[in-house]
Amino acid sequence: MKQIINVELKTRKVDFAKCETDILVVGLFSEGKKLDQLNKELDRKLDGAVTRLIELGDFKAKEGINAILYGNKNIGAKRVMLVGLGEKKKATLDTVRKAAANAANKSVEIKAELLSLALHRAFAGRFELSAIARAMAEGAYFGSYRYDEYVTESENGRSASLRVDLIDPDPAKTKKLQKGLARGTIIGKAQSYARTLANRPANIINPPKLAAIAKELAQNSKNLTCTIFDEKQLKEKNMGGILAVGSGSQSKPRLIILRYKPTSKAASRQPIVALVGKAITFDSGGISIKPSSNMDQMKLDKTGGISVLATMKAVAELTLPLNVLGIIPSAENLPSGSSYRPGDIITTYSGKTVEVLNTDAEGRMILSDALAYAVKQKSDIIIDIATLTGACMVALGKYKAGLFGNDDKLIKQLQKAAQDSGENVWPMPSDDEYGQEMKSKIADLRNIGSKWGGACTAAAFLRQFVGDAKWAHLDIAGVDLFQKPTEYAFQGSSGFGVRLLATYLIDLAGKK
Ligand code: BES
Ligand code: MN
Ligand code: ZN
Repeated sequence: MKQIINVELKTRKVDFAKCETDILVVGLFSEGKKLDQLNKELDRKLDGAVTRLIELGDFKAKEGINAILYGNKNIGAKRVMLVGLGEKKKATLDTVRKAAANAANKSVEIKAELLSLALHRAFAGRFELSAIARAMAEGAYFGSYRYDEYVTESENGRSASLRVDLIDPDPAKTKKLQKGLARGTIIGKAQSYARTLANRPANIINPPKLAAIAKELAQNSKNLTCTIFDEKQLKEKNMGGILAVGSGSQSKPRLIILRYKPTSKAASRQPIVALVGKAITFDSGGISIKPSSNMDQMKLDKTGGISVLATMKAVAELTLPLNVLGIIPSAENLPSGSSYRPGDIITTYSGKTVEVLNTDAEGRMILSDALAYAVKQKSDIIIDIATLTGACMVALGKYKAGLFGNDDKLIKQLQKAAQDSGENVWPMPSDDEYGQEMKSKIADLRNIGSKWGGACTAAAFLRQFVGDAKWAHLDIAGVDLFQKPTEYAFQGSSGFGVRLLATYLIDLAGKK
């Protein structure tokens, strides 16, 4: 893959004021009329510029807002960036992450190439230093991310590369920062990898291409193997759901299976966690075709699958002591003479039959096979992630993913991981009332429910395929993209799910 912006992260033992850099970044809480020690020192060296900025009311330290001051001969930095952190009592690890993202985003915009973060100073004592460093690293990757691999202009209004240093004069502190930075780098890079793959359009990525990318990833990763089921194997295995959805396209469907096995014997006895991700490389709706406005966004209908792919990359690099399966059903949903139709009855891999009443409800069709496959592989825990329903977007908007499931403990663990990773979720129901709506008179199930509660009926449909496994489902329609750029992020794919799933797995492995 062509490198979009090469970001390199390091720790550096250096005095804050002496640090030679393009931008020195410090944080400020909104009630911080009294400056902390570092800000006081910088204020003194900048002849009171920080105090004047605050007293004039130009900078209120709100979250997502930054102010740039220019250096002088008293300090090493060319610029000092003050990043607003909002109210101190509301601060979380995501405040750290967003502040770093905000600073990195701005740095790339003004074409800086060396960024020095001293954000941890504002949070000292509130969180562990290594956790702060991890959040800073994830944020630095997130905010500096750009997708412009098809822009042929070389000067594209951004830095060519970016070096980010986490700085502190105390070597004991840089050592702790280094620990978190290592993890944050793995996760941050994996998320950027996910965003680039998701942002690539459907004429570039189709199911066979995605399968080739997964193969390549496994070849380059230790402890990761990849198996692909092509059309022939899908037929042999009776994976009717994936085949039906893929039947209208020239690009044939695939089931991508990534298997991560830990090195140690003890770890290999750990439970099997399956991550299952929807990868529709383009969703036109099929014969039940979608309206044309915003149909271009349906290139992002592969985001769930790509989050799984990128999480597997992170899991392998983190060498977690867990057994993790990544299962990615992939198809292109197009209308043609060979497409599946409304009214068709499909026999899925589980043996259950489904009456298709809308070909645009295709995500659940491919997931039914993938979930049943996860069960067949004796997965103890199954988590699926999918841009599944517009209804979830109607229910929750674009800030939180819908979280469904059949196991309270798993749901709580995912809620905790969501809080720490800043990829937010909200619990939703999928019990039998919703399940009743998915029964058909002429098959075991139908693929759409009634008019209301579409996210819940879709989840209730998936629930029929998970057997006795502990299961959770993340509906990420809406959170999969930024329609416009934000203070923290470039427009397009958000890479949602990579931080959440990686955090969940790190916690599960007990390697805090
Ligand atoms: N991929 C879409 C869901 C979606 C919509 C994701 C908007 C992101 C933004 C999914 O395949 C779909 O089309 N769902 C239908 C289901 C319906 C036919 C029961 C929907 O939500 O309208
Ligand atoms: Mn659809
Ligand atoms: Zn879809």
